[in-house]
Parts: sequence; structure tokens; C-alpha cells
Amino acid sequence: MTLRGVRISGTGRAVPDKILSNEDLSRMVDTSDEWITTRTGIKRRHIREEGQRNSDFASLACQRALESAGVEAGEVDFVIQATVTGDYIFPSTAVVVQDRIGARNAAAWDLSAACTGWLFGVAQARALLSIGQGKRALVVGAEMLTHITNWEDRTTCVLFGDGAGAVLLEACEPEENAILSTFMKSDGSLVDLLYIPDGGTAAPATPEALADGRVKTRMKGNEVFKHAVRNMGKAAHEALEQGGMSSDEIDWLFPHQANIRIMTALASRLGIPEEKVYMNIQDYGNTSAASIPIALDEARGKGVLKDGQTVLAVAFGGGLTWGSGLFRI
Ligand code: ACO
Repeated sequence: MTLRGVRISGTGRAVPDKILSNEDLSRMVDTSDEWITTRTGIKRRHIREEGQRNSDFASLACQRALESAGVEAGEVDFVIQATVTGDYIFPSTAVVVQDRIGARNAAAWDLSAACTGWLFGVAQARALLSIGQGKRALVVGAEMLTHITNWEDRTTCVLFGDGAGAVLLEACEPEENAILSTFMKSDGSLVDLLYIPDGGTAAPATPEALADGRVKTRMKGNEVFKHAVRNMGKAAHEALEQGGMSSDEIDWLFPHQANIRIMTALASRLGIPEEKVYMNIQDYGNTSAASIPIALDEARGKGVLKDGQTVLAVAFGGGLTWGSGLFRI
């Protein structure tokens, strides 16, 4: 079988209008703009308002990705949504998005890999399109992390934001291939570094669990930080090796926007100068699976990411999971 190529033909993003600044947070918990800025790089984040749901933003991001590609929703074969904060426990939010955008000919499903989810989704879509099982896939990362944030825990509540980013992938001739490599990895022995302890089948959401914040995100930040830098470095090397490129040949590094110190440590490990590292964490915080597709769409919109340029995208997240992708825009 001859494998087909896969290219990126459209991008889109959508975030809530409401903004929560570091100053706002410093009136809610014992923190300061100075601490948040120096330790994380975050200045503000977009947060959902009561009644706004994941599919509102996921659908809009997908519609914008379709518009930018000039493709009709009915021509889409797959809607793959990466999220841990969907509209419902089941069914998937992807089916809601499918219906809302009118992608009536698609199969739709969610995948759960926390902040690495969008890159895992790209790997899934690439595999399907390259073997000829469909021509077009929307891969959307959309999270409402503020819904699962403990607003009394200053060690986590300053980090997260809400939003959605989507990319349209299309099968193409092998010589036009633009997804040069993808890499995925997990280590399930590290679940308790970053998770929601209760509310699933492991432990029910009792009144005590609710009162104790055990149905909201818990994180051992220092531990996550160390694993993040190490594993993102390894993932970056894998993507480069599989794609047959060296780090000085890429135009842009798009790291998962979790912490400015993680991004600069990663860039220094890879020998990539900071002017080639795309960062928008100051405006969005950590939007988990949405972070890389939001950044790609923003960078294209600003004209700093140009057609033909090569992008190395790298992420890590709860699980732990980590992964990477080498793309030509
Ligand atoms: N404001 C003020 N002080 C704070 C705050 C805050 N918001 N949060 C913690 N502190 C205090 C701590 O209590 C501690 O005080 P102490 O020294 O008196 O005990 C001090 O600041 C230092 O705390 P550390 O945890 O050592 O701070 P660190 O520099 O490691 O930064 C952070 C913490 C930002 C959480 C960092 O560890 C980090 O970014 N880790 C990675 C987290 C991450 O990216 N998670 C997302 C993964 S992706 C996903 O799947 C969602």
C-alpha cells in the first residue's frame, strides 16, 4: 500500500471573552501579579462564564478552521476532539461539535490525554488519512479547565485558562506531505502527580470529597515540572529524528504553554534560540489540549508563522503523557 501524505489546510481558535487577570486572582487567594508572572509567565487568562460549555468554543474553532481552508463541514470524515472537560461524561463532545457544525458525514470521538491530547489526535488523524480511510479530519483541542479548578488552591488556580483550537488535516499526494513525524508516550505510574482524585469509579463524589476539593484538579507542581522538561526534551528529539531534521533546521518551536520556565528550559536543552520559541502563555495561561492549536492559529493570523515554515510542537500533561510532532505549514 502506498501511504498518502497529510497536510494542514486550515486553523481556527475560539476563547471566552471574559478575562481573569493576576490582579483579580490576588483578590481571591494569597498570591500576587509578581509571583505569578515570574514563576509562570502568565499575566491573564480567558475564562468561561456560567452557562458556557466546551462545545460552544470547540464548534467555533472548528468552523473557523474550515473557513480558513475553504472546506464545507459536510466534506469532513473525522472530528477528533482532545479534552478532559467535555460537555458530558458521555457521549463525547466531538459528536456535539459534529452536529453543531453540520459535519454530517463524519465519525466523531473524544480522546483523553490531558495537555498532550491534541498531538495524540494529530497522530490518530494522520494514521487514518495516510492509509486512505477518509480525506479530511478536524482535530480540535478544547478545554474548560476553570470548571475543574479549585479556586481556593493558589498552587493550581493561577495556572489554567479556557479555550479551543482546531486544525483541518487533509490527505494529499505523498510529495506534499506536511506531517513529517509524530511521537506519543505515557507513564501511568505517575497518575497522582496531576489528577482529579474523586468523582470517577475509583472514588465517588461524596459530600466530603466535594468539600475537600477532591473533585477538582490536584497537582504536585515541582514533580510535574521536572518530568515535563525531561520528557518534552526526549519527545522533541524523537520527532526530529523520525522527521530526519536537526533542531537548527526548524523555524519554530511550539511548546505546550504550561510555564515560561518549562519552555525556556526546553529550548535551551534543544539549543533553540528563544526568538524561535512561540509563547502566548501571558495571555491564555495553560489551556491544556487547546494550547498548541490556539498558538498555531494565532501565529498564522499575526503572520509570524508563514506557509512553508517548519514547526516542532511538543507537549506534556496529566497521565503523565507526552508527545511531539514535526509539521510543515
Ligand atoms: N502565589 C504565591 N505563592 C505561591 C503560589 C501562588 N500562586 N503558589 C505556590 N506558592 C508558594 C508555595 O507555597 C511555596 O512557598 P514556601 O516556599 O513557603 O513553601 C513557594 O511559592 C514555592 O512553591 P513551588 O511549588 O516550589 O514553586 P515553583 O517555582 O515550583 O512553581 C508551579 C510552582 C508554577 C506550579 C511550577 O511547579 C509548575 O509550573 N509546574 C508544572 C505545572 C504544570 O505545568 N502543570 C500542568 C501540566 S499540563 C496538564 O495536563 C493540565
